[in-house]
Amino acid sequence: MKVLLITSSARGHAIADALARSPQKPEIIAICTSRNPGIRKIAKEQHVIDIMDFDRVLDIAKKSNPDFAIIGPEDPMGSGLTDALQAAGIPTVAPLKSLARIESSKGFTRELLEKHGVDASPKFKVFTSTEGSEMNTFIDQVLGGDYVIKYDALKGGKGVKVSGEHLNGTEEGVAYAKECVKECGKVVIEEKLVGQEFSLLSFATGTTCIDMPAVQDHKRAFEGDTGPNTGGMGTYSDSNHSLPFLTKADINRASEINKLTAKALLDECGEPFVGILYGGFIAVKDGIRLIEYNARFGDPEALNVLPLLTSDFVAICQGMLNGNLDESMVKFEKKATVCMYITPEGYPDNKDQRGEVVSFPEVPNNARIFYGDISEEEDGTLKLGGSRTAGFVGIGNTISEAQQVAQNLCEQVKGPVRFRSDIGTPPIVEKRIKMLRELRTK
Ligand code: AMP
Ligand code: GLY
Repeated sequence: MKVLLITSSARGHAIADALARSPQKPEIIAICTSRNPGIRKIAKEQHVIDIMDFDRVLDIAKKSNPDFAIIGPEDPMGSGLTDALQAAGIPTVAPLKSLARIESSKGFTRELLEKHGVDASPKFKVFTSTEGSEMNTFIDQVLGGDYVIKYDALKGGKGVKVSGEHLNGTEEGVAYAKECVKECGKVVIEEKLVGQEFSLLSFATGTTCIDMPAVQDHKRAFEGDTGPNTGGMGTYSDSNHSLPFLTKADINRASEINKLTAKALLDECGEPFVGILYGGFIAVKDGIRLIEYNARFGDPEALNVLPLLTSDFVAICQGMLNGNLDESMVKFEKKATVCMYITPEGYPDNKDQRGEVVSFPEVPNNARIFYGDISEEEDGTLKLGGSRTAGFVGIGNTISEAQQVAQNLCEQVKGPVRFRSDIGTPPIVEKRIKMLRELRTK
């Protein structure tokens, strides 16, 4: 069994680790954007190239002749790498370009759900022209002045601007929306939702979706959800695979939305969505709404859920590819997890610590470390990159137990780094529960 893993970052390390635990003992050939010390230990080969250089990727893919490939990040999928690999006869766990629009085009997703009767979106409108005052009227009269503006193409998480956070007033919103139309031809303007966000990722075959445990991410840089947005400072998941603030009906509805969306994609595109369908949801006053879809594993979400997987990940990938995936093949331990990212001290605003030495403690059995933006010298010395360095995952019977494991490890890291110490702590989890309870009893 040979698997080609096209990826980078801590998410890629977590995927490689899950593959390596398979009883099928796959040989892993990794193609990464930068050398990853974690993947290096697991993979037979690690090729460091630009993964958007499809000619080079295909060259390595054809030479290594894997049983299948997996793609980690969204950019290559959005640009058609799955299509190219499939055309070369390599089955690939990642959606084709037309299906990856679920992530690469916010307008496509909103219109898909509307057309196929999946009632999960906020009020929204897609604009393709900057003429007239329709945008102003929509924001003022339909949305009551609170809005979210979404760039209609991949922008590394920087395309969404929310009123009251990044933009103020109708004029600023309209100006940004027009900029989006000029740059990418389209913009989505939608209602600003209030509630608790969470991620529900499913293994998808086109006709079946099997869920992973739900996870809550923490995007703000600093304790108490303050500071700028980041790629995600950390995440937690609970032992019952739901989240403490969600009802049974909430988690079931999110699961149903993923299934309905996979079916809508099949009906719309005529091809099955094979890969990871990642629903970014928000629990609101009267139920569940969809914030966005991604077509890949989340980072950090993958770091929480993949270590809990006790069944064969290679068999799950084969199941996604041949359409024969069932619940009995997907087993996650009934444990809670907390992932805390170690980052350079100045992250995300300044990159001053780049190249500085960092060292990590030994990781016990009830924890994992996944390496992100970090480089390794010949002698094994580890040096900081500019972005998230490594994710520690604590595993326990409760979120609080998992939190203590992760925090204890983070505190032992040596170097000019920091982490968000409140992720998964009882006060912040309580705050989430209280916020939603109050919203729903108003
Ligand atoms: P995205 O790039 O689509 O993940 O959006 C980034 C962030 O913007 C999300 O995680 C939310 O916090 C926020 N966001 C996106 N859409 C909405 C919405 N309709 N209402 C409130 N917040 C939103
Ligand atoms: N956790 C956010 C993302 O992977 O996009």
